[in-house]
Amino acid sequence: MRSFLSLTALTSLALHVLAQDVDQLKADLGDVQAVFPGDGDYTTAAQPFNLRFTGIAPIAVTYPTDAAQVGTAILAGSKQNLQVVARGGGHSYIANGLGGKDGALVVDMSKMKDIQVNEDGSATIQTGNRLGDVVRVLSENGRAMPHGTCPFVGAGGHMSFGGYGFTSRQWGLAMDTIYSADVVLANGTAVTASETENADLLWALKGAAPSFGIVTAWHSHTFEQPQNATVFTDTYDLTVEEAVSMVDAFTAFTFSGLPPSFGSELTITKGSEKGKVTIAHVGAIYANVESVNETLSGFTDNVPEPVSISRSPGSYVDSVLNLGGVDSLDVSKPDSNDTFYTKSLVIPEAEPMTDEALTAWFDYNANEGFDSDLQWFLQIQMYGGNGSVINQVDTDATAYAHRSSLYTYQLYASSPNLLPPFPDNGYTFLDDMVDIITSSMPSDWEYGAYLNYVEERLENWQDLYYDSHYQKLQTIKAAYDPNNVFYFPTSIEVPSA
Ligand SMILES: Cc1cc2nc3c(=O)[nH]c(=O)nc-3n(C[C@H](O)[C@H](O)[C@H](O)COP(=O)(O)OP(=O)(O)OC[C@H]3O[C@@H](n4cnc5c(N)ncnc54)[C@H](O)[C@@H]3O)c2cc1C
Ligand SMILES: *[C@@H]1O[C@H](CO)[C@@H](O)[C@H](O)[C@H]1NC(C)=O
Ligand SMILES: *[C@@H]1O[C@H](CO)[C@@H](O)[C@H](O)[C@H]1NC(C)=O
Ligand SMILES: *[C@@H]1O[C@H](CO)[C@@H](O)[C@H](O)[C@H]1NC(C)=O
Ligand SMILES: *[C@@H]1O[C@H](CO)[C@@H](O)[C@H](O)[C@H]1NC(C)=O
Ligand SMILES: *[C@@H]1O[C@H](CO)[C@@H](O)[C@H](O)[C@H]1NC(C)=O
Repeated sequence: MRSFLSLTALTSLALHVLAQDVDQLKADLGDVQAVFPGDGDYTTAAQPFNLRFTGIAPIAVTYPTDAAQVGTAILAGSKQNLQVVARGGGHSYIANGLGGKDGALVVDMSKMKDIQVNEDGSATIQTGNRLGDVVRVLSENGRAMPHGTCPFVGAGGHMSFGGYGFTSRQWGLAMDTIYSADVVLANGTAVTASETENADLLWALKGAAPSFGIVTAWHSHTFEQPQNATVFTDTYDLTVEEAVSMVDAFTAFTFSGLPPSFGSELTITKGSEKGKVTIAHVGAIYANVESVNETLSGFTDNVPEPVSISRSPGSYVDSVLNLGGVDSLDVSKPDSNDTFYTKSLVIPEAEPMTDEALTAWFDYNANEGFDSDLQWFLQIQMYGGNGSVINQVDTDATAYAHRSSLYTYQLYASSPNLLPPFPDNGYTFLDDMVDIITSSMPSDWEYGAYLNYVEERLENWQDLYYDSHYQKLQTIKAAYDPNNVFYFPTSIEVPSA
């Protein structure tokens, strides 16, 4: 199976290379460093995080050092009608940083890693930085910003599509910190997108940046770093009925007037026996460390006894390391990898899942899930509730479409040994799960999907990812990238004339 796949990839690469003029591409790239098929470091340069996409073959991977070189690379690619994509941290779930399919010209941002923190607390973050770099430099200045938990994830993709972490209820999504961006457009021109310059572009970048240009730097607001934080994990082993009650208790807890400095999620995995699930309540509180148990009591008073409890008080950086499962912020060392398929559901505050739908879902998780040989987990991430800053942003203020969300669910299944090949039942396990959820809810249920948990098999992705913003995004796409240079499987389509 693996050799068949790589043979196919090689054949289609050969077809691509024949159709393109590689010598011309090399000439047009000038002094922009680039790696081509056949070069010793090509396999490493084209390595996806998700090994399900192993063998995907870019025409070249370029390493610009400044905005002018980014422009040179874009023009060299567009001249030959190549698909041009940026790569930030390379953690796209479907290898969109490699174009998502063969033949892309990849513009890798890893040589652009500057971060500056200004007197007023604003920061300029070049998009080659990983979240670990961002935490390290902001922290040196007593600052912090909201973002996800994995230090290896890149600021390029993460901040384009949202960026959720346990500080998001008090500070918003990573994307919400952006007040302007330095962008290189499809015609190679470097521009600023801000409230006063190219304001339509700034609107589009905050939720859909990769379709509109290559961002070289984000200009973001930052926050005073909290003195302390406590990370907690309470683990439960539950029947289907108890699990349904627990999600209901979690929803009541979310609406109980929690401090915004609290964030948490429920992570569901295989139970101790068939008919059960394990649920971990994981989160952090960023104020009043002593108050963690009191805050949690609004949940713990209404659910069964946990099988284990952990409380980890420490500094803010300690909480970042703990949640990231790492012992340092050093992101230069080799990263992990996985072979997986993911789906997401954005659950509206106005219409949480009914008990009927929750029961159908947990029946499936506790039975089919128990029997499955896949390594899977399901997350219910708290986005909403009273005072959540995520939902205080007006729905139409940015391209990001989901400003009245209660939860974002991440549904994640890896191959049994985390290595290729990814089995067919890995797709059906999650596809069937989502069918069970949606078919148990009213047919007009207004759920969505989250672009940082991007998937390639979603049929109505335009609607689920971008909702009512899709048409406006198409209009802006036509203005800034009429020839669809920045194309990938879930990019905004140029409207047909
Ligand atoms: C282990 C792990 C943990 C995660 N945890 C969280 C989490 O806690 N919260 C959360 O919200 N998400 C999380 N994610 C999802 C993560 O936010 C996305 O995968 C994110 O898009 C990855 O960004 P990247 O730059 O690393 O990826 P890349 O693959 O480099 O890029 C992703 C997309 O953005 C585009 N892009 C990258 N850089 C630029 C740029 N400079 N200009 C324009 N377009 C660009 C790429 O072309 C591609 O389409 C996690 C992912 C992983 C693998
Ligand atoms: C929280 O919001 C919900 C829904 O808007 C509302 O019914 C409830 O009274 C609020 N609770 C608190 C404690 O503010
Ligand atoms: C919180 O509760 C747990 C479990 O009851 C207990 O072990 C821990 O000491 C408590 N922590 C604080 C700070 O009160
Ligand atoms: C709180 O954080 C400071 C540093 O920010 C650290 O020195 C201290 O030990 C932390 N307190 C606790 C209880 O962990
Ligand atoms: C994936 O990660 C494992 C464990 O870190 C490592 O041994 C392996 O070489 C990696 N594979 C690839 C293709 O990067
Ligand atoms: C590039 O495109 C932008 C946006 O459409 C436009 O403002 C600019 O003038 C163009 N630059 C060149 C050199 O054509």
